[in-house]
Amino acid sequence: MPSSRTTPALARVLLVGAGRVGTAVTSLLASRGLETVAVASRSEASSAAAARFLGAPVARLDDLPEADLVIIGATDAGIAPLAAKVASSPSATARVVHLSGASGTECLDAVTRSGGIAWALHPVQACPDVDTAVRRLPGSVWGVTVTADPEGAERLVVHELGGRPVTVPEEARPLWHAASVMTSNGISALLAFGEELLGSIGIDDPSVVLGPLAAGTVANAREGGGGAATLTGPIARGEAGTIQRHLGALSGSPDLAERYKGVAMAILAAADRSGKLDASARRSIEDLLR
Ligand SMILES: NC(=O)c1ccc[n+]([C@@H]2O[C@H](COP(=O)([O-])OP(=O)(O)OC[C@H]3O[C@@H](n4cnc5c(N)ncnc54)[C@H](OP(=O)(O)O)[C@@H]3O)[C@@H](O)[C@H]2O)c1
Repeated sequence: MPSSRTTPALARVLLVGAGRVGTAVTSLLASRGLETVAVASRSEASSAAAARFLGAPVARLDDLPEADLVIIGATDAGIAPLAAKVASSPSATARVVHLSGASGTECLDAVTRSGGIAWALHPVQACPDVDTAVRRLPGSVWGVTVTADPEGAERLVVHELGGRPVTVPEEARPLWHAASVMTSNGISALLAFGEELLGSIGIDDPSVVLGPLAAGTVANAREGGGGAATLTGPIARGEAGTIQRHLGALSGSPDLAERYKGVAMAILAAADRSGKLDASARRSIEDLLR
């Protein structure tokens, strides 16, 4: 049962560029009582899949209907071309949202010129598919960069999407996004690396071994003041001998050894930030890694 309207001006939603996150966002808005007037995407397959998911009609990109809120769900290269379509449609003066982290409102310039309002709203969440996105987006933080009506954007994030808005200056968007990429994709890549190491010694189901460790590490960081503050392990303890044994075991696999050293350098930087490592232990470990 949708609760009472908190954003009365934004009753009609148009999804343009029907990717995973855009479809999920539109679905969450629909669950709050906003009407999905249509879905339009470059490919027929994406339009049809999103229209089915949302129970909404398909529109052509060259014949977009009028809406109060347009969600552009395309990846970075697609945002400006789709914004140009919106700017020459009956939705030209709507609030127009894109979901990219790296871009601010500049890629929506066509919309701003046509009298619309550009909102760059980036959900800080990992969304591998629509259903997962629908489950994970509520409670997430959203990076917000707007050309006008910041209160409206905040209301949308808080009341309609159950999110937590953080204002991000236009010029800070690339580093804002880099932080998300390093964290989310970095965790996935580190898990893949750990799985490869366990696979190399014949462990059958490496993700079962490492999953609880990864979950515990993330929980520690969330509860204990962040990654540097809760760093554990031989590098934080200054155990150069242990690092030397790891490198010795990897000496037959130059590729794995190189990747180990790259990750270990990042751990060393985190240990520096934590203030846990004394200078001479740091030097010994750095000498091994260089
Ligand atoms: N996935 C995540 O975890 C996540 C998290 C936070 C933010 N985001 C942001 O959300 C946005 C969408 O990501 P996504 O993962 O939902 O992407 P996606 O599922 O891969 O969908 C992207 C959509 O963009 C459209 N598109 C791509 N290039 C286009 C172009 N040149 N012209 C027109 N349309 C184009 C495609 O439409 P057709 O299929 O019709 O070709 C596709 O449906 C991105 O900006 C991304 O940075 C994603």
